[in-house]
This record gives sequence, C-alpha cells and structure tokens, in this order.
Amino acid sequence: MKIAIIGMGYVGLVTAACFAEMGNDVRCVDTDEKRMENLRRGVMPVFEPGLEALVSANRDRLTFAQNLPEALQSCEACFIAVGTPMNGAGGADVSHVLEAAREIGRHMTQPLCIVDKSTVPVGTAKRVRQAVQAELDARSSNLSFMVAANPEFLKEGSAVSDCLKPDRVIIGTGSPEAAALLKELYAPFVMNSEYFLLMDAESAEMTKYAANAMLAARISFMNEIANICERVGADVNKVRVGIGSDRRIGFQFIYPGCGYGGSCFPKDVRALVSFAQDAGYEARLLQAVDEVNARQKHVIAEKVTARFGPDLAGRKFAVWGLSFKPDTDDMREAASLTVIGDLTAAGAHVEAYDPKAMGAARESGLKGNDRVSYAGSKYEAVRGADALVLVTEWKEFRSPDFYEMKEHMKHPVIFDGRNQYDAAQMEKHGFEYYQIGAGRPA
Ligand SMILES: NC(=O)c1ccc[n+]([C@@H]2O[C@H](COP(=O)([O-])OP(=O)(O)OC[C@H]3O[C@@H](n4cnc5c(N)ncnc54)[C@H](O)[C@@H]3O)[C@@H](O)[C@H]2O)c1
Repeated sequence: MKIAIIGMGYVGLVTAACFAEMGNDVRCVDTDEKRMENLRRGVMPVFEPGLEALVSANRDRLTFAQNLPEALQSCEACFIAVGTPMNGAGGADVSHVLEAAREIGRHMTQPLCIVDKSTVPVGTAKRVRQAVQAELDARSSNLSFMVAANPEFLKEGSAVSDCLKPDRVIIGTGSPEAAALLKELYAPFVMNSEYFLLMDAESAEMTKYAANAMLAARISFMNEIANICERVGADVNKVRVGIGSDRRIGFQFIYPGCGYGGSCFPKDVRALVSFAQDAGYEARLLQAVDEVNARQKHVIAEKVTARFGPDLAGRKFAVWGLSFKPDTDDMREAASLTVIGDLTAAGAHVEAYDPKAMGAARESGLKGNDRVSYAGSKYEAVRGADALVLVTEWKEFRSPDFYEMKEHMKHPVIFDGRNQYDAAQMEKHGFEYYQIGAGRPA
C-alpha cells in the first residue's frame, strides 16, 4: 500500500519504518527541514534501539519527501503523527494536528483515508474532518475522504519491537471503508484479528488517555506507598513483591522511584484532567496522580539535604542517568531535570553522565545551568563526588565496580532514585545507601 506519514518524531519515524518493513511504500514528511535532510543522509533524529538498522534496511521503500504534495501522490492513507504538546492551561495543543489536516485538505488529489496517530483529546477526529472539509470546500473540490483515530501505544526504548508486535491495534472510525483499509494495512502486525479493535473515534481517542492515566496512576500509587513505607518502617521493595505476586495486580508499573517523566504520561494525565474539566467533571484522582508525581521528583534532593544540610555549596554530586527512562535520549519532563535543578539551586555542582542523553540535556533541559558539567564515563562522574545520585536505571549502572567507585568518591554515599541495588550488599561494600521507600541506612 502507498501511505504518507506526517511528523518524523519517535512515533512517525518508527511507524514509517515498520510499515516499510512489511512491504509498504511509505512517504515521510516533516516541517523540520534539517531533520528531513538528516534522514535523507541516514542520520536518525532520535536514539531508539533498532531504528537506524530498520530504516536503513528499508531505504528502498521509504521516501523522505520534499513536501506534502509529493508525499501524497497516489497515496491511499495519510497518517498524522505530529506532536501534541501541553498548552499553557495544561490541555493538549492540537494545533499541529489541525495544521497537518488543513495541509492534507489543501494538497490531496485523490480519495484518502486520513488517520490520526497523535494522542489527541476526544473530539479531535471530528475537528480533523472539519479542517480537511473546509480546505476542500475552499478549493471547490468534492474529493471524498475518511477519518480514523488510531492511537499509538509504543514505548520509547522498545518502540520498534512494540510497533512490529503491538498488543493491540485500535481503530476508531465510523467508516467501514476506513476500517477495511486499516485492517488490511495492519494485518501483518496483528495476525490474530482479536487484537484488531474497532470502535468509534471518540472511544479510541479516550482509550489512549485512559491507558496512560492508568499506568501513571500505578506509578504514583506505588510512590505514595513507598513514602508511607519509609515513615512507618516498612520496605517498599518487599511490599512490591508482596502485592505484585497477586495476579490481579501483577508486577508491571509498580516500581517506586523518583517520579515518571517523558513526553506522554505527564502531558496526557494533565490533558485528560483538562478536557474532563471542560466537560464539567473534576477528575480528582487524576489530579492527585500528577501532584504525587510532581512531589516525588523532589524526594531525592530532600534526602540529599537531610544528609548533607540545606546548603550544598562546595559539594559535588555525580548524577547517573538523565533521560526520562533507559534506552532513549528523550529528556522531556525527565526526573533528572528536577533533581539536578534542586541540587544546583542549593549550591551544589553536578557532574552528570548518561549513555545517550547528554547531548539532548545540554541542548534543552539543562541548557544554561553552569553548575552542571558532563563526564565521559560513569566512573569519571563519581570522581571526588560527595555522593552519587542514580536517576535513570540504564543497564550499565546495574553492576558497577563498587570498589573503584569507593576509591574515587569523597564520601561513599549513594542516593538511588530507582532502587537498583540491594541494601545489604551496599552495606557490605561500605556504602551509605539511600533508596526510595525503604528507610534509612543504620
Ligand atoms: N513518544 C512516544 O513515546 C509516544 C507514544 C505514543 C504516542 N505518542 C504521541 O504521538 C504524537 C507524536 O509524538 P512524538 O514523540 O513522535 O513527537 P515528536 O515531538 O518526537 O515529533 C513530532 C514531529 O512532528 C513534526 N511536526 C510538527 N508539526 C508538523 C506539521 N504541521 N507537519 C509536519 N510535521 C510536523 C515535528 O517537527 C516533529 O519532528 C504525540 O501526540 C504523542 O503524544 C508519543
């Protein structure tokens, strides 16, 4: 099938490469010309495991087009995968989606199935339809088109495998033709048709928010339990295993930590609260999910100042991990930004190390913070440090050489924002070890 994809971010580019992998002819566009030029030269705009290899293997079926009219030529479907960042009021800014819809309306030359993959508030499919129709009317065109909502559930860090083997594909549309076309397109990904879920556009749009809000709620719930554990003398690591073994609960998304981040959970929970409010409903549980998370991002700095005092001037902290989670270079809403912001605001110097996200951190979230420097390795970062703060659980931090670390650190102190280590082992290694929800070291 010939398809176009608008927006070459994590979702659009991964989707394009996966559709091409299944033999489709995929034309890609993005308003960011530098990004497009890089893609034509094989340079990926984001780090995502397996993406570069997949794009390179499918170069013959992937076109990084000069413009949308070129991309739309003889296409049957056009996907919108542009960003929907948070607007000033906490809601989702759908202006890029609607602009893409207008562009499609201005340039389509044959009947088209328009598919919204971006995460958008309920009712956006209708607005996309209106935006396209208005442009067609302005051209006095009577071209037909269909609209479908197709929310994306891939996770950064495992986006390629998630996209190639989705748990389910959700299609929201009132058009049987659109449903049939998308069923054909997705057939190689969901061999078992039970996992192809057809519903109305509104329910499809809502499903994406409900899924992210549920996962975010599990994390905030566990962080709340962790904070209580700490105060009453329980160990959240044991509690986690205790509740996770209940099959009704399970182990996913119940790891305590220093808060969730990323381009989805924070903005999607807030957007859901916001459009619920617009519809006259105060979503109190979801507001609390967000508030608990915002507070949780300060927990590490609170532990540091409880140990070293409120004035951290003259102290150096090593920070391991900057990206919002491992296996990505995405810094959007990363917990590291709050942790480092708190430490440096209290006068500390931070030497940070991340396997992939230091470039993105320098360019965006930590830009201008002259109390932050970047190390070439995790061991370089801890040299002369008063303590190590672990923020993102990259695999390379799982089993470091504690002897080497201890030798080079000023104080053998670790604040672990992801509970990666065993407290008894840490004691054996001679470290003062602070984690989330598990009391203080003796
Ligand atoms: N990142 C994720 O893990 C993830 C997962 C599921 C769903 N989503 C949702 O998918 C959507 C895209 O997310 P992302 O992380 O890929 O975004 P992104 O910010 O990485 O990329 C968006 C791209 O769209 C481009 N763009 C913006 N307006 C455009 C326009 N009018 N025409 C052409 N290109 C345009 C931007 O230049 C950018 O390259 C969002 O709604 C997001 O919530 C993201």
